Amino acid sequence: MTADLKPIDLDILGTLLNSNGQPVQLDFFLQEFRATQKSVDHSLERLIRHGCVIERDMHTIRLIQAGLGVWKDYLQHTLPKQSRRSVEVYQTTASTQDRVKAQANQSVVIFADEQTAGRGRLGRQWLAPKGVGLLFSMTHKLPRDRPDSIDRVSFLTAVALAQAIERITGHGPVQIRWPNDIYVNQRKLAGILVETVQPRGAANATAVIGIGINVGLTRDHLAEMPAELRSRVTSFAMLGWPIDRLHIAEKVIAQIDRNLHSPDVSSLVDEWRSRNLHREQTLKLKSNGQTISGTVIDLDPDHGLIVRRDTGEIVHLPAATTSVLDS
Ligand code: BTN
Repeated sequence: MTADLKPIDLDILGTLLNSNGQPVQLDFFLQEFRATQKSVDHSLERLIRHGCVIERDMHTIRLIQAGLGVWKDYLQHTLPKQSRRSVEVYQTTASTQDRVKAQANQSVVIFADEQTAGRGRLGRQWLAPKGVGLLFSMTHKLPRDRPDSIDRVSFLTAVALAQAIERITGHGPVQIRWPNDIYVNQRKLAGILVETVQPRGAANATAVIGIGINVGLTRDHLAEMPAELRSRVTSFAMLGWPIDRLHIAEKVIAQIDRNLHSPDVSSLVDEWRSRNLHREQTLKLKSNGQTISGTVIDLDPDHGLIVRRDTGEIVHLPAATTSVLDS
């Protein structure tokens, strides 16, 4: 923990984050944490010194934004044990994906406020103006006896994102555009990039899971972005969900780890089915350079999307090499 942040500061921050921008009564803190007004004031001062923006009047306290300076301590304090990794937070980096790859032999999650070379699937760019995206990459060590495919990790992560966003916002269902785009109201809210690396000297490979979530993106930001994104992208802000990036990070990471370690993959396939944006749709897909037209039937957790081609043939299309072509 940073030398001068105390556990009570992080507990107070947790309560403020959970209230999603609503004011919390000072009395609540006094009772809940058996604190004095003076100690609450000191906690707020320390949080503000670490970049938090907090509004305070006689009786209430409201978090406007959690500063980057508290992210590391807060996540290390709050995440459940199986999600505990070393946490790094950067103002700017080329791509969190590359930073994690460089230390994929450790258990780590790396955040950036801004990326100068953020990338998406299939060599695409990932654009997010500074300060408005929740951008991070994390390691997931693939079990040696069952080296999970990119397909399995992608679908478990996509379901986790949808579940966590539904839980935080009360909105549902959040949809999954196979393999790993998260959609709300027919627009993309988040994307997932899964890559694998073989750390030097390690017996098993590690998946590097990269997540980009549009949180504070506004129409003004979109006006500065490429025209083709404008009608396709949404954000927490545009959807009227005033939720802090740190709160989303906490809930999303915990849910990803729950799903990745769940022994019940078939019930998570059910969770995917109920959120599948392409249910029984006829689609055009590009797989290994070939254009395929067919109807989406189901998901094979380890071998991708199951599609009935117009020719009648059933094919399994892996996430790593397939993309859905826009109709
Ligand atoms: C996609 O939609 O194609 C996937 C987008 C993944 C973007 C995230 S942002 C954090 C991490 N770092 C990157 O360079 N990419 C991923």
